Amino acid sequence: MKVLVTGAKGMLGQDLCPVLEDVGMFVIETDIDNLDITDEEMTKEVINKTHPDMVIHCAAYTNVDKAEEDFETAERINIYGTENIAKACGSLDIPMVYISTDYVFDGTKTTPYTPDDNTRPVNKYGLTKLRGEEEVKKYCEKYYIARTSWLYGHHGKNFVETMLSLAQQNKELKVVDDQIGCPTWTVELANGILKLLSQPYGIYHVCGSGSVSWYGFAEEIFKQSGLTVDLKPCTTEDFPRPAKRPRYSVMDNKGLCRNWQAALQDYLQLRDV
Ligand SMILES: NC(=O)c1ccc[n+]([C@@H]2O[C@H](COP(=O)([O-])OP(=O)(O)OC[C@H]3O[C@@H](n4cnc5c(N)ncnc54)[C@H](OP(=O)(O)O)[C@@H]3O)[C@@H](O)[C@H]2O)c1
Repeated sequence: MKVLVTGAKGMLGQDLCPVLEDVGMFVIETDIDNLDITDEEMTKEVINKTHPDMVIHCAAYTNVDKAEEDFETAERINIYGTENIAKACGSLDIPMVYISTDYVFDGTKTTPYTPDDNTRPVNKYGLTKLRGEEEVKKYCEKYYIARTSWLYGHHGKNFVETMLSLAQQNKELKVVDDQIGCPTWTVELANGILKLLSQPYGIYHVCGSGSVSWYGFAEEIFKQSGLTVDLKPCTTEDFPRPAKRPRYSVMDNKGLCRNWQAALQDYLQLRDV
């Protein structure tokens, strides 16, 4: 099977491509330098020429806070870029996997979100990703929308690395305890995407099983790393950010990924190799 991956140089892309290759897929790795998804002609040409059996669309504008002020760029990449990919896939009947986010939800539920739950993003990044989902549904008959959350991986800036680096400074560390979600290792997500491919087309939640607050996540990172840190819980109000976050963005993953603590353990072990 020939699979074209967009955003292959990103945090997810760099872990996803080897996982696909390991199961015998031929991977065409693309990123902004050889497939700028905001360029409609280029997108059409690359997909027509390479004619993959599937496209996994990971490229995105992912700076959640910056998207509040730079909405135009987020819109161009996440909405119109996704529209270009979806149009090209749809016209050739190529199945498409679109990586979406828990930020399509408003976080007012108290039980895990299912794929059919109502969406209502509370920030601009979430809005652009939801509009991306709509473009996929509009142009493609064969699609998987894989919503994931709280991603961390070896090839990108992420919460685990930030915590480990702050721990070096030996100061009191305050972490938000009133936002609950599902931490997801990029390799776990890559394996979840593989599992998706044997499921019927549709919308899925592909994130770590279980849930935790950012504070609880930090606590587990330090516990598993054997670090003693002066860690204190705080509220969202204590740590204001430009983009609002959903308070509760736990998603029901129907067993597509292992529990988040087991994945974290593997991540930390590999990090030390
Ligand atoms: N990170 C999270 O916590 C999280 C949570 C939920 C969902 N997601 C979704 O998961 C997917 C992967 O996220 P990630 O964390 O791996 O993101 P990432 O590290 O920011 O990777 C995105 C990649 O897309 C590239 N890109 C940007 N604009 C492009 C364009 N016009 N054409 C082609 N490529 C372009 C980026 O290049 P540059 O670096 O040069 O800009 C980067 O290599 C995204 O769809 C994201 O929305 C992420």
